[in-house]
Amino acid sequence: MKLFIDSADPKEIEELAGTGLVDGVTTNPSLAAKAGLDVFESLKRICAAVPGPISAEVLATDTAGMIAEGERYAKVAKNITIKVPLTWDGLKACRSLRDQGLMVNVTLCFSPVQAMMAAKAGATFISPFIGRVDDAGEDGMQLIRDIRQIYDNYDFRTEILAASIRSVSHVRESALAGADVATLPPNIFKQLVNHPLTDKGLAAFLADAKKANIRIREE
Ligand code: E4P
Repeated sequence: MKLFIDSADPKEIEELAGTGLVDGVTTNPSLAAKAGLDVFESLKRICAAVPGPISAEVLATDTAGMIAEGERYAKVAKNITIKVPLTWDGLKACRSLRDQGLMVNVTLCFSPVQAMMAAKAGATFISPFIGRVDDAGEDGMQLIRDIRQIYDNYDFRTEILAASIRSVSHVRESALAGADVATLPPNIFKQLVNHPLTDKGLAAFLADAKKANIRIREE
């Protein structure tokens, strides 16, 4: 499963990219507002730090405007992925940007049929927002399972990008449900390898080695 970072803060992303385990990044207007930096300067830094797909979201709501904004984003770097909302205008922009050979992430997906439409429009990624579906009292993970089934039934190549992730359990369940990618807030990414029994086991190994005066490194 590919792991993306859901952030528009270049410093935060550069730090996590140092793990060698970050496959891409998703930004959105709310994250850009939170970072409070120049959007294009930030994108340049992010694209240089992570070689995988970096999503940059359009603000226009009409097809022509989305295409124009997408083309401007695409000039930043080769790994820019243009993020468009799941509307009719967004899907038309998706088709056109894909015809130009650009990557497109169709965002704000809340239903399996919306995801099918995005795949028909040639989306590179579909972003179902599982946390927000859960917040609305429905089952976000079922949305991932349904999309997986539909895409497999018809051999759609669009990658399922589980978004709006709120916990490590969301990552586990998305992986089990067959999502191709999960985009994680930095704090969740950092929690992925934590386990109290790992810490406890390591402390015991080190204590035993110390007691027996075992050394590996030459002094
Ligand atoms: C995905 O591309 C979005 O940026 C993101 O996952 C939204 O998450 P939220 O529901 O926590 O805002």
